[in-house]
Amino acid sequence: MLDLRPDEFRAVVNQVADAAEQFLAGLDGRRVTPDTSGDSVAAAFGGPVPEDGLRAGALDDLAVVGELGRVTNARFFGYVHGSGDPVAAAADLYASVINQNATAWRSSPAGIAIERTVVGWLAQAIGCPGFCGVFTSGGSLANLMGLAMARESRRPANEEGARPGVVYASAEAHMSMHKALALLGLGRANLRVVPVDDRFRMRVDALEQAIAEDRAAGRAAIAVVATAGTVNTGAIDPLSEIARVARDNDLWLHVDGAYGAPAAIAVPARFAGLALADSISLDAHKWLYQPLDCSVLLYRDPAIARTTFAYTGDYARSLTDDPVEGFAFFEETIELSRRLRALKLWVSLRYHGLAGFREAIRADLEHARMLARLVESEPGLELLAPVELSAVCFRMNDGGEESTLNARNAEILQRVIREGRVYLSNASIRGAFALRACFVNHRTTDADVEAIIAAVSAAATPRT
Ligand SMILES: Cc1ncc(COP(=O)(O)O)c(C=O)c1O
Repeated sequence: MLDLRPDEFRAVVNQVADAAEQFLAGLDGRRVTPDTSGDSVAAAFGGPVPEDGLRAGALDDLAVVGELGRVTNARFFGYVHGSGDPVAAAADLYASVINQNATAWRSSPAGIAIERTVVGWLAQAIGCPGFCGVFTSGGSLANLMGLAMARESRRPANEEGARPGVVYASAEAHMSMHKALALLGLGRANLRVVPVDDRFRMRVDALEQAIAEDRAAGRAAIAVVATAGTVNTGAIDPLSEIARVARDNDLWLHVDGAYGAPAAIAVPARFAGLALADSISLDAHKWLYQPLDCSVLLYRDPAIARTTFAYTGDYARSLTDDPVEGFAFFEETIELSRRLRALKLWVSLRYHGLAGFREAIRADLEHARMLARLVESEPGLELLAPVELSAVCFRMNDGGEESTLNARNAEILQRVIREGRVYLSNASIRGAFALRACFVNHRTTDADVEAIIAAVSAAATPRT
């Protein structure tokens, strides 16, 4: 009943391919957000489950799904949302068709070999040769896992439960760190928030002082989290100096490179010290342009990953000691059943070549600098933070009272988004409401960068 003949499957794939082709062909002309409402979307997709199959008709509404969503066309600059390489998307379809469980060599010999190869490629490409790693669903999970390894290496908790232990991260660290401390039973109160300098980088003197204070108070410490590309401004913490402090104090060093680490492929000097980390998160679904979900946790010592994550039931135990054929990712991660996430990145890297990615990242970096220049030359616009990578934070400040600027810029942002040509998100920069554009988009051209200024200027002087 559920089975398809090969020609029926081909017809289904053709329908999907047609919808996907039309979606991509119309991308540039599309609004960045749908002009819709909760009720109309609910009406479009509500209704009872069909008792009898619709067959080909089941796929008729794919175009509507595409229409009622945000699009990552060339003018989408919100959050850190990668633009989605269609080559990788096609490979993802194949990964689903072959339905591999990328959990152990015996369940997917090719899949596991590919995942281990791509991990090695990425580690090498960002200047961390020799690191091992595992694909995850996203940076939040990778950060949680990195800190789980940190906890297990410094304050083992797997058997007896968690004891408090301090983790140091900057005031600009991602919210996933706070979540991780809660989930690991360390408690959010044990996240020591270290102040940042005028470039939003962790202050190493303040880190050392915080460590000394905790030690004097008899509090145990576990890890330092450095961020290589903060979500607000793209700041890169001073990795080499933080690594020295971590080493001197016997603390695990996790680098949250979910957003920024891919840029080490293009501008390695800015990431000096990255290879001194114990673990690194890197989101390929951000700045390697992969469709969601595609993230990687890299680590120096796979033995600690296994200490942290291996707990193997008899039924899953390997019957061989062979280091390749007995290998199991489920002993180095939280997941047991796992999608073959590496396939899309493997195909994408082979299709475009590493040079293609390096060039696209450099173009994003240049577009960010270009926007900063345009902001600085535009009367009324104000740059709110240095541009360290590809995030640009600015606001309209054309003479109003400081106390009114946050509300005014929030209004401008809403108008820009409602207009539908450009998508920006926002950030809080020392209390100021910032309009934020983040360039992790292989489709963006110079004209699209100029469109940001046009959209913000138009929103600031709305037609009456
Ligand atoms: C610096 C940083 N870390 C972690 C994350 C979380 O990544 P994900 O959304 O893939 O869970 C983000 C997301 O934007 C980020 O910018």
